[in-house]
Amino acid sequence: MTDTGPCSSTLAIPEVGEVPRHVAIIMDGNGRWAKSRMLPRVAGHTKGVARVREIVEACVLRGIAHLTLFAFSSENWRRPAEEVNKLMELFVQALEREVSRLHRNGIRLRIIGDKARFPARLQHLIRESEQLTAGNGRLTLTVAANYGGRWDILQAFNAWLHDHPHATQISEAAFAPYLSMADAPEPDLFIRTGGEQRISNFLLWQLAYTELYFTPVLWPDFDAAELDRAIAWYRQRERRFGRTSEQLRSG
Ligand code: IPE
Ligand code: IPE
Ligand code: MG
Repeated sequence: MTDTGPCSSTLAIPEVGEVPRHVAIIMDGNGRWAKSRMLPRVAGHTKGVARVREIVEACVLRGIAHLTLFAFSSENWRRPAEEVNKLMELFVQALEREVSRLHRNGIRLRIIGDKARFPARLQHLIRESEQLTAGNGRLTLTVAANYGGRWDILQAFNAWLHDHPHATQISEAAFAPYLSMADAPEPDLFIRTGGEQRISNFLLWQLAYTELYFTPVLWPDFDAAELDRAIAWYRQRERRFGRTSEQLRSG
C-alpha cells in the first residue's frame, strides 16, 4: 500500500485498503508489567523500548506507511520526578542507539510535542535524528513526546493566528496544515494496550474516524503476533464514514 498523503475524513471519503496506512498506538501497561514481576516500574519502560524496535520492524514488513507512538503525554510530568527523569534518560539512550538502524532501514523519524521542556541534550538529539532521516520514505515513525491533543490544536490555532492576524474565521482545510500530523493521513487503526479504554489526550483531531482497538495485553508483551491480531480485527470493520452499509455494498 502506498502512502496517499493527508486526506481529511470529514472533507472527503478516504480510500480504505487491506493494510492500514497509518497505525497509532498508546503504549500502555509498562508499570503494571514490571509490578507483576516485582520489578521497579522503570524495568517495564526498558522492556517497552525493546518492543518498539520489534513493532517498528513488523510495520515495515507489513507495508504500513506511518506508525505513530505515544511515548510521553503532556500529563506524564505529573509522575514522580524519579520516573520522569528515567524516561528522559531512556529516550536519549533510545535515540543514541537506534537512529542509525532506523536510517539504514529507510525509516523517517519525527518527534511531535512541545519539545521546549526537554533537556537541551535531548532537544539536540531530536533535531539531529530528524535531519538525518528526513529523506527516508519506507516508513514514517512519529513519536509523540510531551504531546497532548489539546496542546496540538491550540499550537496550530496560535500559529495560524500569527499568519493571519486580521482573519475572523478559519476553515478545516486552512487549519489542518498547522497540526503536528499535517503530513500524514489520519490514523486508520488506533491501538491501546494495557486494558484502559480511553484516548488520554492523544490525537484528538486526527482520530475522528479511526477504528479503535483496545487490548488487555500490556505493552511489554505486545509482539508482532498481537499486531497481526489487531490488523485482522481492523480488516473486519466496515468503515462507513457516515454512509449506510447499503451504499457501501452498491458502490
Ligand atoms: C506507559 O506505561 C508508558 C508511559 C506512560 C510513559 P505506564 O507507565 O503508564 O504503565 P501503567 O499504566 O502504569 O501500567
Ligand atoms: C498514556 O498513558 C500516555 C502514554 C502511553 C505515553 P498513561 O498511562 O499516562 O494514561 P492514563 O493516565 O492512564 O490515562
Ligand atoms: Mg499507564
